[in-house]
Amino acid sequence: MLNFNLSSIFYLIPLYFLVIAPLLRQLFPSDPAFAPDSGYGSLYDDEDEDTSIQLNPEVLSLDDGVPVTCDLGSDTYRLHIFAQKPLVIYIENFLSGPEAGHLVNISLPHYTPSTLYSDSTHENSPNTTKRLSDRALLPRDAVVRCIESRARAFQGWKPHLYIERMWTQRYNVSGHYTHHYDWAGTARGRGGDRLSTFMVYLAAECKGGGTNFPRLRRPRDKKWCEFVECDGEEGNGEGGRNEGVTFKPIKGNAVFWENLRADGSGYAETWHAAVPVEEGEKVGMNIWSWYQPPRGRW
Ligand SMILES: *[C@@H]1O[C@H](CO)[C@@H](O)[C@H](O)[C@H]1NC(C)=O
Ligand SMILES: *[C@@H]1O[C@H](CO)[C@@H](O)[C@H](O)[C@H]1NC(C)=O
Ligand SMILES: *[C@@H]1O[C@H](CO)[C@@H](O)[C@H](O)[C@H]1NC(C)=O
Repeated sequence: MLNFNLSSIFYLIPLYFLVIAPLLRQLFPSDPAFAPDSGYGSLYDDEDEDTSIQLNPEVLSLDDGVPVTCDLGSDTYRLHIFAQKPLVIYIENFLSGPEAGHLVNISLPHYTPSTLYSDSTHENSPNTTKRLSDRALLPRDAVVRCIESRARAFQGWKPHLYIERMWTQRYNVSGHYTHHYDWAGTARGRGGDRLSTFMVYLAAECKGGGTNFPRLRRPRDKKWCEFVECDGEEGNGEGGRNEGVTFKPIKGNAVFWENLRADGSGYAETWHAAVPVEEGEKVGMNIWSWYQPPRGRW
C-alpha cells in the first residue's frame, strides 16, 4: 500500500510540470504569473494594425512573390557623397543605358498631365504655374522590379521601408516644377512619410531642366562641374544662375537624398525644383521610399 503511494507521487511530479502546468497556462492566460509583458503585447498588436491599414499595393511596390531578375545591366554605379546632413549622394550610372531607354519606352502609352496636390485636397486641374509636365505610372515589369530591388538594397534593406510605385515625368520645353518638399510632415500624425528620394534621369537631350536645391551649397572642387552647374555655364534656369546647387540632367545618373531626420521631422534643406527645360525634352523618374515603423518608434 505504502509502496503504491510513493511511486504515484514519483510519477505525478513530472506529470505536473510537463502536462498540467502548460495546460493551465493555456487555459488561464490572464493569470498574472503567466501573462506576457503587457507593454510588448500592445506594441505587437499595434504593429499588425498599422501595417494592415496603410500598405496599399496601388501606392507601394509591395512584395507579391514575383521573383526579381535583372537582365539589362546589373549594379555598376559609382557613388559620390555630396552632403551628410541631410544625406545627399550623387550616383553615376544608377541605371544602364538600356534600362533608362526601356523605362522611357514603356512610359509612352501611360502619360497624363501631372496633377499637383496641395496639402490634403487634390486639385482637379493642374496648376501649370507650379508644375508643367506629363507623368506615367510604370507597370511593374521585370526591369521596374529590378530597379525597385536596387533601391531597397541601396538603403540597406531597412525594415519598414517600402518603395512607392514608380512614376516617370516628361518635361517638354518650358516644363518645370517649382520648389517643393517631397516629405509631408506626417511621420507623427499618420505614422509614415517619405524617408528618401532618388531623382533619376532617364532621357536628357535638353538644355536646362536641372534639379535645383537653393539651400544646399555647391561644392568647391571643379570635378563636381561634370554633374552640377558651375559659373558661366548655360542651362542654369531663366535669368541666369540659380541659387544653391543645380544638378544637371544626365541619362542614367541619379541624385539620392534623405528627406527625414531620425525623429521623423523633415529637412528644410531638401527644398528643390525642376528648372524649366529650354530646349529638347527631359524624362525623369522619382523613386520615393515610404517609411512606416510601428507606432511609437519615430
Ligand atoms: C525604345 O524604343 C525605340 C524606338 O522604338 C527602340 O529603337 C529602342 O531599341 C527601344 N529601347 C529599349 C531599351 O527597349
Ligand atoms: C497657381 O499657383 C500660383 C503660384 O502659387 C498662384 O499664384 C495661382 O493663383 C495658382 N493658380 C490657380 C488657378 O490655382
Ligand atoms: C509634351 O509633348 C508631347 C508630344 O511630344 C505632347 O503629347 C504632350 O502633351 C506635351 N506635354 C506638355 C505638358 O506640354
